[in-house]
Amino acid sequence: MLSVRGLQKRFGARVAVDGVSFAIKPGEVYGLLGPNGAGKTTSISMIAGILARDAGEVEIDGLDIDAGPPARAQIGIVPQAITLYLDLTARENLHFWGRMYDRRGDGLRRAVEEALQAVGLTKRADDVVSTYSGGMQRRLNLACGILHQPKLLILDEPTVGVDPQSRSAIFELVERLRDEGTAILYTTHYMEEAERLCSRIGIIDAGKLITEGTRSELVADLGRAVRIEIGLEHDEGLERAVSVVTGLEGVHSAAVVAERLHVFADEGAHRLPPLLTALLNTGLVVANVKVVEPSLEDVFLRLTGRMLRD
Ligand SMILES: Nc1ncnc2c1ncn2[C@@H]1O[C@H](COP(=O)(O)OP(=O)(O)O)[C@@H](O)[C@H]1O
Ligand SMILES: [Mg+2]
Repeated sequence: MLSVRGLQKRFGARVAVDGVSFAIKPGEVYGLLGPNGAGKTTSISMIAGILARDAGEVEIDGLDIDAGPPARAQIGIVPQAITLYLDLTARENLHFWGRMYDRRGDGLRRAVEEALQAVGLTKRADDVVSTYSGGMQRRLNLACGILHQPKLLILDEPTVGVDPQSRSAIFELVERLRDEGTAILYTTHYMEEAERLCSRIGIIDAGKLITEGTRSELVADLGRAVRIEIGLEHDEGLERAVSVVTGLEGVHSAAVVAERLHVFADEGAHRLPPLLTALLNTGLVVANVKVVEPSLEDVFLRLTGRMLRD
């Protein structure tokens, strides 16, 4: 449904997107996962034809994006910023968007009711949008993007700053549209969301797609490895702990995450004693230890040397 090859964008001296290529099939949720500033928004803006590309090709359903309206009409994009008229009601906003997409009359009225239903806002449809919570505005923004039933739906970090109820409403809608055959491009910097929603994930960092695959393929690439999470008696020792364990045999990387030491290391119980001994020998007191399966966070750490959450 979507095919992107060699996408490139430069802002002055900074290369924001550097040769990004990927494809999405109908009924697939593709996650573009990467930290802030990685180039996600710039990439999707070029795919949607909102931003001029420096290089690269974009095809929607076999049509070159530059072919104009027929290709563009297949895309629904939901930007991160709210693009609603706050002093209009939800229904009025949707009618406005519908006319932008050239819908009229009964067809438009039906599409508006379906979109309201899809995001769970039917009951509030005649309230002015300025009375909505942030999460409700997000859902309405999403409704605007699906009004014309696009074959490719692009969502830019749709859950940032929304309440849990709106988040699950967004997840459910994404899953339903996917089941109906929509191709979905979902950008996020939340690893958990990519793991839960996306059939395939492309990890983007500094403008480059550094790896791509299903969650299990990406984690399998790490080989037989585990993540060891260590809590210390005193948090101020954490940075020192990173340097203590870095370089130990079998240790690939170490970082501080949420006040704990995360060590990514080869599998095997024999890894643990030297690790703990090294910490104890420098006077660091270990409070607790947990050994877990690696996640996409570890994939990112392995490939970039940094944590996704930085
Ligand atoms: N209009 C712009 N002018 C200059 N630099 C920009 C512009 N838009 C984005 N950038 C830069 O391009 C890089 C990628 O940004 P962006 O695509 O917004 O990342 P993400 O969406 O992954 O957080 C960042 O370094 C950002 O500062
Ligand atoms: Mg962005």
